[in-house]
Amino acid sequence: MKLIMTCKIPDELMNPIKEKYEVVTVESDHALMSRKRLLGEIVDADGLFTNVADHIDEELFEQAKKLKVISTMAVGYDNIDLQEAKKRGILIGHTPGVLTEATADLTFALLMATGRRVKEGADAIQNNEWKGWLPFYLTGQEIYGKTIGIIGMGRIGVGVARRARGFSMNILYHNRSKNEEAEKDLGATYVELDQLLKKSDYVVLLAPSTKETYRMMSTAQFQLMKKSAVFINTSRGSNVDEDALYEALQSGEIWAAGLDVFENEPISANHKLLQLNNVTALPHIGSAAIETRMNMARLALENLVNGLEGRPLVHQVI
Ligand code: GLV
Ligand code: GLV
Repeated sequence: MKLIMTCKIPDELMNPIKEKYEVVTVESDHALMSRKRLLGEIVDADGLFTNVADHIDEELFEQAKKLKVISTMAVGYDNIDLQEAKKRGILIGHTPGVLTEATADLTFALLMATGRRVKEGADAIQNNEWKGWLPFYLTGQEIYGKTIGIIGMGRIGVGVARRARGFSMNILYHNRSKNEEAEKDLGATYVELDQLLKKSDYVVLLAPSTKETYRMMSTAQFQLMKKSAVFINTSRGSNVDEDALYEALQSGEIWAAGLDVFENEPISANHKLLQLNNVTALPHIGSAAIETRMNMARLALENLVNGLEGRPLVHQVI
């Protein structure tokens, strides 16, 4: 059977797979397989190991004559056309659970960095702009004891809430359904989205990307937020109207934003949002801890092999 891997993973994980299957992958650790090559190779492939950067769309499914299973090394699968996969009876696997804590860590790191202007401070020294101590130089927002509003109380949202509790934060959340466990164990309070936006000092977006969440954060939502509010997005860029966010940040409607995700990734330094000094931007590294990425790769391989061998996937989307 033939497998395509659009990204390279460490040999210790790859070698046992290569003994059993024909594996087509990229040579470099620093590049993904091109779309063109993927479309060519997919024709006679049985399995596909993918990631958030590939567009698994109708064009690709049309090419794939033998494909049985697609395994993404990610929790989110908004880049995969599930309807097309379903129509063709192709299984989809993903990697929830193993990246929860790492992503919650990064979300909290970005929250703290944005609230306390860590990047601006580091840049100031780097650019020889530090003139000495001043009473209100690079003053940011307090974090301890403030109110955090978490939009999307799934596994990662709960992880962020657990960290927020350590900072004695008041925890509000909004979610499709109530999370009784988070309420009981973490003292989180369910509120409507408008209330969350009005009351939170830190608004943290962790909702999956769906038709319903597309640009759910736009002008009206930013207007409801406090002028001192910090907005954090570690979910998907498409959940945010980036033009509206730019306006809100520039006009002082909200105070700052920390973003790990963007609508069209990768972005570069000329992206509109990066022209603002109240934006802290990261290159989609929510789950990028070494052990976490190893566990994600391991789980994604297990999903793939299980699908090929006719066994149930460990975490199956469809
Ligand atoms: C990364 O964004 C993921 O969905 O795992
Ligand atoms: C993702 O793992 C989530 O449910 O938050």
